[in-house]
Amino acid sequence: MTASQPWPWHEPPAPAWFLTLVLLGAVYSAVISIRGLAYVLLCLRRPKDLCRRYGPWAVVTGLTSGIGWSMAMELAARGINLILLDLDAANLREISDVISSRHGVKTRTVVFDLSLVGTAQGDKVMRRFRDAVDGLDVGVLVNNAGVARPYALFFHEADAEAWVRMIRVNLWALTEVTAAVLPGMVARGHGAVVNMGSASSEALPSFPLYTIYASTKRYVAQFSRSLYVEYKSKGIDVQCQAPFFVATRMVSRSALTSWIAPFVPTADAYARAAARWIGYGPLCSPTAAHQLLWCLAPIVPDAAFDWILLQAHQRQRVTIQKIKAARAASASLGRKNFSNCYGVKAESLLMAACNAWPRNEPAWFLTLVLLGAAYAAALSIRLLVYVALCLRRLRDLRRRYSAWAVVTSPTSGMGRSMALELARRGFNLVLVDLNTANLEETSDVIKSGLDVKTKTVVFDLSLVGTAQGKLAHTLVSTLMLYALVVIYLYPLKRIFYAGH
Ligand SMILES: NC(=O)c1ccc[n+]([C@@H]2O[C@H](COP(=O)([O-])OP(=O)(O)OC[C@H]3O[C@@H](n4cnc5c(N)ncnc54)[C@H](OP(=O)(O)O)[C@@H]3O)[C@@H](O)[C@H]2O)c1
Repeated sequence: MTASQPWPWHEPPAPAWFLTLVLLGAVYSAVISIRGLAYVLLCLRRPKDLCRRYGPWAVVTGLTSGIGWSMAMELAARGINLILLDLDAANLREISDVISSRHGVKTRTVVFDLSLVGTAQGDKVMRRFRDAVDGLDVGVLVNNAGVARPYALFFHEADAEAWVRMIRVNLWALTEVTAAVLPGMVARGHGAVVNMGSASSEALPSFPLYTIYASTKRYVAQFSRSLYVEYKSKGIDVQCQAPFFVATRMVSRSALTSWIAPFVPTADAYARAAARWIGYGPLCSPTAAHQLLWCLAPIVPDAAFDWILLQAHQRQRVTIQKIKAARAASASLGRKNFSNCYGVKAESLLMAACNAWPRNEPAWFLTLVLLGAAYAAALSIRLLVYVALCLRRLRDLRRRYSAWAVVTSPTSGMGRSMALELARRGFNLVLVDLNTANLEETSDVIKSGLDVKTKTVVFDLSLVGTAQGKLAHTLVSTLMLYALVVIYLYPLKRIFYAGH
């Protein structure tokens, strides 16, 4: 635009909606630019001397492959001695030899199947781990170990053992290892904790068919953010790193050949960026490609993401099932990697220009309008969905779902209110709590005013995973089975008698 040309909102004046979009677009692009600038500044600055800033030793968990291996090499290249923790003794020895011969740093190994935390065996290894850490100036902890198995499955299809294992490794073990290392850091007044989260829980609205995986990663992010605030003043930097896809065995080769490939860094590239980010903020996605995805994600409406991810993961599920069947049929097909299906084609969504569109504006101006429009559309859709939800007719929950509901902790607070509300809506209730007297009292209150049935199960929920807990679980399942039989027999009875 030359000096003689009028400023866009002079003659003729642009309509108010147009200027609002420009403003929204400007705000949105300012936010993106500030993030981009912060990222560029961080990339340009001299890398932190992690060894001097935090201490000469680091603990890395889950390092026999993928990101963990690359992180361990990156830290060793920066002169940090390593305590290596993984579940395969032979692999650990080999890796330890490679690292110390390549980078001349000291290493110690702890063989630890992290899925055993909370068991007697796990407690024994945890003591060994504490002994290994004891007396060392551990400055950096990288909680990297994680599992996504059994991969894409509906929640009810997954074997309970598999997701309990996932919870133990991704969440419980990470907490215990942090608890073992942190007191030393507090005493020394310096340290950094890096927890591997995932963009699946932070940048995306849902991650269907990987529900437990994404939920454990959500825990990791919240755990890290809160610890960051708690320990910042004590000289300890806690950070959750939440990448999108990184090219490891957790992500299939087909992802690397689909449209998403340019956004999938190698584990080494990831580790280089990750090491630079240590100590900078409670949550980050260290590579430039992931930063870009992170900035663009809020523009896409949640419903669109939900739909795309559900389709992609359902295709993965089918592929996995085929592979499982093939494996069962032929041992020769038993390979570790499987092909997943992020081949979702990006659809271009260009809107036709309407007559009211002001013409002859400069390109930067129209770009702001488009950005503003996209952002406003995303906000409006959210608001609209919320208003529609508030205005809709009350659903007949009993008819829609079933005649029975299970409520845990129904004896006080929100649990009690929820149980009463469900009973008012005609549900029979299975009430689960650890106090028999309170349960009976709640059951009596519910039955006294309403024509519903109740059953009570005394269950201390902190016993889940123990033999006693399994017994109570069986009891609840049996009651639900009984309830299901009633639900399915009841309509049959009605059909049967309708004919008479
Ligand atoms: N790759 C991605 O796209 C991506 C994206 C977001 C977040 N992440 C997260 O990044 C971390 C590393 O993932 P990755 O892609 O590098 O996966 P990976 O290649 O499968 O590595 C996982 C590591 O964890 C170890 N591990 C698994 N179960 C264990 C257990 N019970 N006890 C001890 N160690 C165990 C594995 O050891 P073995 O090899 O001996 O089984 C392996 O060394 C994970 O926390 C993951 O959730 C990855």
